[in-house]
Amino acid sequence: MEQNGIKVAVVGATGAVGNLMIKVLEERAFPVGSLKLLASARSVGKTLPFRGVELPVEELVEDSFEDVQLALFSAGGSTSRKFAPVAARAGTVVIDNSNAWRMEPDVPLVVPEVNPEAALTHSGIIANPNCSTIQMVVALKPLYDAAGIRRIVVTTFQAVSGTGKRAIEELQNQVADIVNGREPSRQIYPRQIAFNCFPHIGPFLENGFSEEEMKMVNETRKIFGDSRIRVCATTVRVPVIYGHSESINIETEKPLSPEEARRLLENAPGVKVMDDPANGCYPVPLDAAGIDETLVGRIRIDPSVENGLAMWVVADNIRKGAATNAVQIAEILLKNRRF
Ligand code: A2P
Repeated sequence: MEQNGIKVAVVGATGAVGNLMIKVLEERAFPVGSLKLLASARSVGKTLPFRGVELPVEELVEDSFEDVQLALFSAGGSTSRKFAPVAARAGTVVIDNSNAWRMEPDVPLVVPEVNPEAALTHSGIIANPNCSTIQMVVALKPLYDAAGIRRIVVTTFQAVSGTGKRAIEELQNQVADIVNGREPSRQIYPRQIAFNCFPHIGPFLENGFSEEEMKMVNETRKIFGDSRIRVCATTVRVPVIYGHSESINIETEKPLSPEEARRLLENAPGVKVMDDPANGCYPVPLDAAGIDETLVGRIRIDPSVENGLAMWVVADNIRKGAATNAVQIAEILLKNRRF
């Protein structure tokens, strides 16, 4: 631990994203003065490593934040709804990975490559966007700045790690059951996920879209600060462990050639272009797993509209889509002396 470092807590430390938050703090050499690992009472007695030291997991309670400057939350919406305001009242800055606060007007929704300045106007809680939204806006930001975006049509292919640790186990167990001739069992997902896919992420709403699809619509508008962008999303769960893929079609205000889009993306922060399909070069989830860049390929003209472009965007949903984005937000606060 660093003397004079920031006093940090990770809420949901035993989960898929929380655990990675600890690793990302370590990897990016965030100046951690002390680290408190919080989870449910079920996890008391467990330890997790940070910088070579095993730290105990403590139960999350109302008093957990008294000596904490920064809390990274990834323990689900209901835990965030209950405890993020408690932490904020104790003077802790909360960076919350759940859906609980994202659309609140006084809660900034931040992707550091897109709207970093928004992080500086918080009232105690900053929201990390949905994983699918993050990688989409990282890839679209340079195109939006150059040519404006009127309309986005996106279909996602989302990995099970986005649902958490138990969903990863469900996929692995179903695969093992099926290859061994057993009937697969199901607890987490509405349908079998092994050797299957389904367009059902979150509950369906009255307008026919799923909650995940409407997150992509509303969060994209909030992050770009542009309520005129029209977005139509179809979100699909696929039997992949790490890495969301997205097929994205955009209609720009001004014409933008694929060559120009490629050049803009090659110079964009957090983006890596992998776009030489004739030689087998296009991104897939296994390329993105474990890295922080958003990978973009298959950039081509969409001939179905006047100023149309189509592309394929892949990123690690629990790194850039969750843990890394949260730590990058903390780095913005640190750089601007907000602790
Ligand atoms: P625990 O492991 O003790 O259940 P994932 O998204 O991978 O499923 O992880 C969810 C994380 O949120 C875990 O660390 C889990 O802790 C934590 N969590 C879930 N419910 C609560 C709660 N009521 N209080 C504190 N932590 C919780």
